[in-house]
Amino acid sequence: MKPIKYADRITGIEKSELRQLFDKAPPDSINLGLGEIQFPTPKIITERAIDIIRQRNIRYTPNAGLPELQKAITNYYNIKLNKNVCVTTGAEEAIFVSLFSFINSGDEVLIANPTYIAYKTIIKMLGGVVVEFDLDSKSNFKLDRNDFTNRITSKTKVLLINNPSNPTGKCFSENEMDFMVSKCNENDILIIVDEIYRELYTDKKPITFLDKTGKIIVISGLSKSHCMSGWRVGWTVSNDPDLIKPIIISHQYICTCAPYISQEVAITALSSEGMKVQNKIRLELESNKKFVLKQFEQLLPSLPILNNTSSPYLFININIDEIMLVNELIKNGLIVMPGRIFGSNGKHWIRLNYATDKKKLAKGIHIIKKIL
Ligand SMILES: Cc1ncc(COP(=O)(O)O)c(C=O)c1O
Repeated sequence: MKPIKYADRITGIEKSELRQLFDKAPPDSINLGLGEIQFPTPKIITERAIDIIRQRNIRYTPNAGLPELQKAITNYYNIKLNKNVCVTTGAEEAIFVSLFSFINSGDEVLIANPTYIAYKTIIKMLGGVVVEFDLDSKSNFKLDRNDFTNRITSKTKVLLINNPSNPTGKCFSENEMDFMVSKCNENDILIIVDEIYRELYTDKKPITFLDKTGKIIVISGLSKSHCMSGWRVGWTVSNDPDLIKPIIISHQYICTCAPYISQEVAITALSSEGMKVQNKIRLELESNKKFVLKQFEQLLPSLPILNNTSSPYLFININIDEIMLVNELIKNGLIVMPGRIFGSNGKHWIRLNYATDKKKLAKGIHIIKKIL
């Protein structure tokens, strides 16, 4: 028998470069490459989950999520609940289902260079066309306004950005936000903003794009803010219910609803008690950031590190071929991410995640010192 052919939309899409790199690392490597907060899920969450499990009433929920959770989400944004939320299986499903609901084959989707690596793949899987605009590495990854404007065509359907950014940890300034929103409004472009890192600020809490006026969908979730990556809770939210309507339909046929237990604990996570615990996670990350910056200052004082305002990433300019460096580090038991996998403007940069214990961080930085 001949092998069964994969669907065209998946052909040529390989396991992400990130995963391929991890696979080469020795088993006891220090992993500062992952996009995860490597702290345990808070007890307030796990205890609540145990209570729910004991009740043995674990069922489907409405497709858009438990009404109490939808309410908690709109309260978080200080907006009114009005069929404008869809709870998803993590932010990743939220990204997929949002694009799935709005782009047709050949539609252009604007993304930043550099940005979160999954965006390109999902756009391609859905038949969309990726159009990158520059964040200029020579000026601290500021928005290149001319380039942004020039990339807009009659086929541009969506602007998909993340704020704060993975990999740089930087936020757009309010001026940059207003500029992008006004360009999108002029050109009838839907704006999708992934704000999954918003609660991990190290300066002041970033404003949400939901405070701006336009066709705007915000995506977020609890994987990063509450160390809940394995629980798979995310959401899409908008001021405009018409933008969420098609997302709820697609989401219904993709996974019916997000897991019931995770939705119940998400209500706890977003309660005032849950947000107090969240703030402790944020402060722990801030302390880790100070620690790694001090280590670098002592061991590699001339290494340029991007000044950013969000955890958990440091973006470091190493001025040599970063793929070569990363491979060398991996052989020596340290995983970090090469900048160019996030886009060509990340060339000569590496991304380091400091959301782990300080001993591992110190060891990792010593390996970087040794190799550099
Ligand atoms: C920018 C960004 N969006 C979304 C996700 C996925 O989040 P979730 O675990 O909620 O699916 C990640 C994970 O690394 C991310 O970095």
